Amino acid sequence: MRIAISTGGGDAPGLNAVIRAVVLSAHNLGWEVFGIRRGYRGLLTGEGVIPLGPDEVRGITHTGGTILGTTNRGNPFRWVEKDDTGSEIEVDRSDELIAKFKDRGFDVLVAIGGDGSLQIAYRLHQKGLPVVGVPKTIDNDVAGTLRTFGFDTALTTATEAIDKLHPTAEAHDRVMVVELMGRNTGWIALYAGVAATADVVLIPEIPFDINKVCRKICDREEQGLRYSIVVVAEGAHPVEGTAVLVEGNRAGVADRFGGIGSQVAGAIADITGKETRCLVLGHLQRGGAPTSFDRLLGLRFGTAAVRAVADGALGTMVCYDPPDIGRVSLAEVVGKPKLVPLDCDTVQTARQLGVSLGD
Ligand code: F6P
Repeated sequence: MRIAISTGGGDAPGLNAVIRAVVLSAHNLGWEVFGIRRGYRGLLTGEGVIPLGPDEVRGITHTGGTILGTTNRGNPFRWVEKDDTGSEIEVDRSDELIAKFKDRGFDVLVAIGGDGSLQIAYRLHQKGLPVVGVPKTIDNDVAGTLRTFGFDTALTTATEAIDKLHPTAEAHDRVMVVELMGRNTGWIALYAGVAATADVVLIPEIPFDINKVCRKICDREEQGLRYSIVVVAEGAHPVEGTAVLVEGNRAGVADRFGGIGSQVAGAIADITGKETRCLVLGHLQRGGAPTSFDRLLGLRFGTAAVRAVADGALGTMVCYDPPDIGRVSLAEVVGKPKLVPLDCDTVQTARQLGVSLGD
C-alpha cells in the first residue's frame, strides 16, 4: 500500500502530529507513505513529493505549521496560471492530477484539510481518486466532527490574549475590542470570550445591534466598572449588514474576513464617548505548539485514517465522536459549515452569566 498525504488550506496546530501518526502506523503495517508538498502543488508543479518514514517524522508532534507546507492557492479544479497575455486565468487540472497520482503508484490519498480542502478531496474521490479525509481547522467549522484539531490551540491562544487585555483595559478605563478568526462561525470567539470573561461576545450566528452592545458597556459604567472587553468574531455582522471582507486582489485570491473589530470599536467610541482600542489577533491564532488536546486528537485522527485505509473505508472522513474516533461519509459533510447552535450550552452559559451577545 502506498499512501500519499496532502495538507491544503490554512495551517492548524496539530498537522504534524497527524502526519507522524499516519507515517508511523502505516510503516508498522509495512506500507509506504509519501508527502505531497504544498497542497497538490508538489504533484502538479514538481515542487516535490517526498518519502516519509520514521526518521522524517521524528520530533515533530509538538511543532506548529506543517512539514509539508501548504497553500490556499492550490485548487486543481481552479488552478491559477498566466495566459499568453500575462493575465491570470483559472484552469481545471484535476484530470492531470489524478493521472500523476496514479503514475506514481499511489493507492490512497489522506487529505488533511478544512471544509474547502475536503470539498476538493471529495471531488477528486468522485473522479476516481481514493480518499480518506482528516478534518483540520482552527475554526472548528467542519460538519460531522465535534472538534477539528487546531481549534483547542487557537482557543487557548485567544483566551490568553483576552486575559492580558483585562488589566490594561481596567488601568486606562478603556473598552478593548478584540477581533478573532473563525470565518462564518463564532466557535473561537464564543469559547474564548466566555472562558476569558469578556463582557460582550459577537458571533456571526447572532447578528448584533450596536446599541445593545453600548447599553451593556454603559450599564457596567453605572455599576462603577469603567472598562469593558468586547470579543468580535471576524465574520460577525450587525442585524442590518453583512460581514466585512478584505477584497481579494488577484485571480484565485479569495476575499477574506477582516475589519469588523475596528468598525465596532469606532461605533462604540462614537456612541458611548469611551476611549476604545481594537486588537486583531490574526494569525497568532494559527501559530505555536499544539495543545496536548490537539496533539492527541491529531495522533488519534492520523491512526484512525490508516485504519480506514486498512478497512477500505474510502470516501470517508475520520471524526471526533467522543469518547471515540469515528468515520463519516465525505458526501454527508462537505460544503456544510458547522455553525454554533443558538441553543447550545455555551450560548446559554454566556447569557446566564450576563455576557451580552449583542441581541
Ligand atoms: O480557516 C482558517 C483561517 O485562519 C480563518 O479563521 C481565517 O479567516 C483565514 O483562515 C485566514 O486565511 P489566510 O491565511 O489566507 O489569511
